[in-house]
Amino acid sequence: MHNISFFSISLCCCFIFLIIPHENFSKITAISVDIINQTCKKCADESHVFSYNLCTTSLQAVPVSHVANLQGLALIAMELALNNATKTLLIIKNLLTSNESLDPFAVVCLKDCLQLYSDGITTLVDAVEAFLGEHYDRANLWLSAVMEASNTCEQGFKEKEGEGLLSPLTNENYNLFQLCDIALCISHLLTSGSTFLMRSSAT
Ligand SMILES: *[C@@H]1O[C@H](CO)[C@@H](O)[C@H](O)[C@H]1NC(C)=O
Ligand SMILES: *[C@@H]1O[C@H](CO)[C@@H](O)[C@H](O)[C@H]1NC(C)=O
Ligand SMILES: *[C@@H]1O[C@H](CO)[C@@H](O)[C@H](O)[C@H]1NC(C)=O
Repeated sequence: MHNISFFSISLCCCFIFLIIPHENFSKITAISVDIINQTCKKCADESHVFSYNLCTTSLQAVPVSHVANLQGLALIAMELALNNATKTLLIIKNLLTSNESLDPFAVVCLKDCLQLYSDGITTLVDAVEAFLGEHYDRANLWLSAVMEASNTCEQGFKEKEGEGLLSPLTNENYNLFQLCDIALCISHLLTSGSTFLMRSSAT
């Protein structure tokens, strides 16, 4: 079921990109790399937890992002987040089924994370829908909820009495948090009334 929604989201995103005008293609391409860097820079300036490097490398790795506007970049970030979360769900399932030497506390944490990630995927789909409908406030709520879920998953392991446990999902939780933060920041930029980078056709 999640796969189906993910697929339809992908189609949806493709459609968005298709309707981006084609005139001045090379100029738009050149300017868009700039949009990625400048957007990531602006977001990093506003938040000390925001990773400029993850932002630029993630967005630049998606070829279609080079023809995207700000809305497109946010959708790409959310699609990457969905992709990430879907893969992480598999990682968690594998850890739970294939590792018999797991600490019982870790099993409880992993089961919590499993629930958090499967809810998180549904929430991300809701965020994309809200975003497409330009309900940015609602999109922000959903995105923040997913970021909180990644934190909750990560913190769970530390709560074991004594020294806590090392989380096996630190990178996954970090990536999901950061990818959602990209979309959240762009959503703020779009609603702050700032005209920052809104006119990508400027020379
Ligand atoms: C964008 O940033 C990347 C890495 O931070 C850099 O390699 C690239 O030259 C930058 N591109 C532009 C157009 O500023
Ligand atoms: C998750 O996203 C990060 C950042 O874009 C990327 O480096 C990583 O490869 C992704 N992981 C998966 C499993 O897709
Ligand atoms: C299995 O779990 C133990 C204890 O948490 C850990 O040390 C080990 O690396 C895990 N093995 C695999 C294959 O994930």
